[in-house]
Amino acid sequence: MNNVQERIEKHINTLSQFTATPGKGTTRLTYSKEDLQARNYIKEQMKACGLQVQEDGFGNIFGKLEGTLKDAPSVLIGSHFDSVPNGGAYDGPAGVVVALEVAHLFKENQLTPKYPLEVIALVEEEGTRYGGGLMGSRGMMGLLNEEDFKNLKDKDGIPTEEAMKQIGLNTTLPKQRDPKTIKAFLEMHIEQGPILEEKNIPIGVVEAIVGLTQLDITVSGQAGHAGTTPMDRRTDALVAAANIIGQLPQLAINEGAGTVITTGRLNVFPNGANVIPDKAVFTVDIRSGKEENVLNVVEKVRSLVMSYNKDGIGVTIEQPLYIEPKAMNQEIITLLKNTCDALEIPYCSINSGAGHDAMVFSDYTAAAMLFIPSKNGLSHCPEEWSDSAHIANTVNIFYEAAKKLTESNE
Ligand code: GLV
Ligand code: MN
Ligand code: MN
Repeated sequence: MNNVQERIEKHINTLSQFTATPGKGTTRLTYSKEDLQARNYIKEQMKACGLQVQEDGFGNIFGKLEGTLKDAPSVLIGSHFDSVPNGGAYDGPAGVVVALEVAHLFKENQLTPKYPLEVIALVEEEGTRYGGGLMGSRGMMGLLNEEDFKNLKDKDGIPTEEAMKQIGLNTTLPKQRDPKTIKAFLEMHIEQGPILEEKNIPIGVVEAIVGLTQLDITVSGQAGHAGTTPMDRRTDALVAAANIIGQLPQLAINEGAGTVITTGRLNVFPNGANVIPDKAVFTVDIRSGKEENVLNVVEKVRSLVMSYNKDGIGVTIEQPLYIEPKAMNQEIITLLKNTCDALEIPYCSINSGAGHDAMVFSDYTAAAMLFIPSKNGLSHCPEEWSDSAHIANTVNIFYEAAKKLTESNE
């Protein structure tokens, strides 16, 4: 194992300890104690690579290596460092670690870039705490206005800025980033599916990312006593929600073309064993490679949900996230493929079924992604694992690509 690989393992192992569920995977909610621990580690590592560290008003972290050109846009490399509940150690952090190691190589080889290099570590990509997802990237690119950000609350009613203050973050720092300050964005991510492992290919060069949306559906009824309310006198919000949820998979199956639909979160109120639920709130995540499939299924979900708006049951539908399928930048794709050839690392083209911050950045800058194999195709679970040798490959590829993009002199 070489030095880079050893450092990668150390970073991943260290970050994986910052979890609210030790022994049961990584649970790192944005603005939690574990966020602060990971944040401090990332900032420390950025400084060790000679980067100037800054945060923004969302708590996104930036480590900058200045370039020689005045006011030149930066080449950004990074990913997110939050997690899903009981997730793995790689989804997000592996991409931050790759960026840190690229910066480490810049320092080790004493490169002087013309364009700045920035390692970035983003908050709340998963939407685990505040819903929607891609919050750090959407926020910094101005897609989430300050008012809407302030109004976001977690499931315990804690607003974003209060949670930020609890871990000592400065909520008054600038939030928005001018796209003119960004030259390119590179993200390495685990594949989170089985394709690369099955093909035994160590690198996937991402061509496009699926379109996706998230709906938050609230069903309301009347609370009452579980023992004394006759069955024909109930307006049970959970029964209505369950009936809706049970019909969702067929909508995606009928749409076909790889369209998928998931209800992953369901909150029941007041959540008492002997109380008829008066409210059920659940998410619906819909994805497809083609925007029209996503839009068709959204319409079908809407009419299905609205058909329950009767007989004392009320429904509301919100759409906290909608993002169309995004193509990655062809010039950088070619640069990455040529670099793989030069380094003699086999690769193939691949599409992403998961959402990534790169899809937000792709509207403002040249964005590109590399995938590496995921063991047994597993992700968003504690078993998630990728080979540090594969991660090290991506450090080398991004290092070469970043030298070109930043126009560095050795
Ligand atoms: C992020 O992991 C997503 O695809 O939801
Ligand atoms: Mn994820
Ligand atoms: Mn991710």
